[in-house]
Amino acid sequence: MERFVIEGQHRLEGHIHISGAKNAALPLMAASLLADGIYHFSNFPILRDTLTFSKLLKELNVDSQIEDHVLTLRVEPTENKVARYELVKTMRASFYVLGPLLARYGEAIVSLPGGCAWGPRPVDQHLKGLQKLGATIDTVAGYVTAKAKELIGNEIVFDVISVGATCNVLLSAVLAKGKTILENCAREPEVVQLCEFLNKMGAKISGIGTPRLEIHGVESLHPADETIIPDRIELGTLILATAITGGNVKFTNVIPEHLGIVQEKLIEAGITLNIQDNSVHITRLGDVKPVDIKTSPYPGFPTDLQAQWIAFMTIADGDSKITDTIFFDRFKHVAELQRLGARIRLDGNTAIVEGRQRLIGAPVMSTDLRASSSLVLAGLIAEGTTFVSRIYHLDRGYEKLDDKLSKLGAKIFREQEP
Ligand code: EPZ
Repeated sequence: MERFVIEGQHRLEGHIHISGAKNAALPLMAASLLADGIYHFSNFPILRDTLTFSKLLKELNVDSQIEDHVLTLRVEPTENKVARYELVKTMRASFYVLGPLLARYGEAIVSLPGGCAWGPRPVDQHLKGLQKLGATIDTVAGYVTAKAKELIGNEIVFDVISVGATCNVLLSAVLAKGKTILENCAREPEVVQLCEFLNKMGAKISGIGTPRLEIHGVESLHPADETIIPDRIELGTLILATAITGGNVKFTNVIPEHLGIVQEKLIEAGITLNIQDNSVHITRLGDVKPVDIKTSPYPGFPTDLQAQWIAFMTIADGDSKITDTIFFDRFKHVAELQRLGARIRLDGNTAIVEGRQRLIGAPVMSTDLRASSSLVLAGLIAEGTTFVSRIYHLDRGYEKLDDKLSKLGAKIFREQEP
């Protein structure tokens, strides 16, 4: 296993081109199961999760080639409609193949994704939506078997706003007979891109970007090409890395409005953002002000930046409260940040972070993707050297984060764990 070695207290300066969004690439890859042929996805993020998904698609008769960050998929009909536990357990978004396999072939056998580092990750909304479209769903021995002679459009109101459930049900409704109305949908930019891509494939989706989607089913779809949107979570993570070190960095290949409320929160914290069409320039000259956050679905504060914000607030000149209303127990990073000297108290799904902390480098352990990036941010400002172990978690969702940080002047390198 590999670890990062980080020598703290170096300001980040320079320019970074943001990679494509992992959470946009995954549903688009799943959509390719809906129609045979050739697809090209440019600005494709090359990271563990997207490569794992390519492996799963290979078992479903989809061939992947990557060249200069363009993924080419060659999709042929598949006899195999099974997504194995061994693959799904390593990457829960593999569950996205359920909807398209069901819509295209009338059956799908997909392993339940199980939990993750921070607790249960239910899929009841995915299953509820597919059942409402006429599928019979059996859950036996850790696998979901979904069957339907044909899918019939229906009215579906999600009980919770779920990115995954919205995507999975969309990936079925596009081929259902008649009209489907989805209410209480997620409207993350990644969901919007999936809707736009499905329409490029010949689907008929309206209400895109709103909580109410209307889908008129079609007989069949055809392949299409797409440029993956920039990764707003990578952007947010690197903006906070810049802010925490008092740096000065320009980010290109960005869609600034995808930051949602994060922009306001950064300004409240005393960060200067210079925003152009597809670039954001960050500087932090003065002190960091304490800013409370509460995560919520887009355009609210993303839960995927919660851990990074906690690391950032350790240097604020006051205390702050960070509440995660989406994943109540997504705080595995707190114990590790405390090893670096952060003073954080957990009260249910709220972390109370004391500001003005002096962090001292130490060995810490990644527990999940975004937790690992919060440890890297803390290591960037800790005195001395911080060792972040098990960085395979980080490599799942960031493409060469260490290279990007080194390019900006961070002293960070990767080595085998002793
Ligand atoms: C997606 O996960 C993202 N993953 C997550 O990013 C992100 O944290 C999450 O959305 C929230 O924004 C991908 O896009 C691949 P949800 P997903 O369904 O779809 C509850 C990362 O770091 N829920 O939107 O699994 C659920 O418990 C990853 O890149 C149900 O109750 O999340 C949660 O409280 C981590 N029943 C809320 O909805 C369901 O059937 C939102 O979860 C589904 C979800």
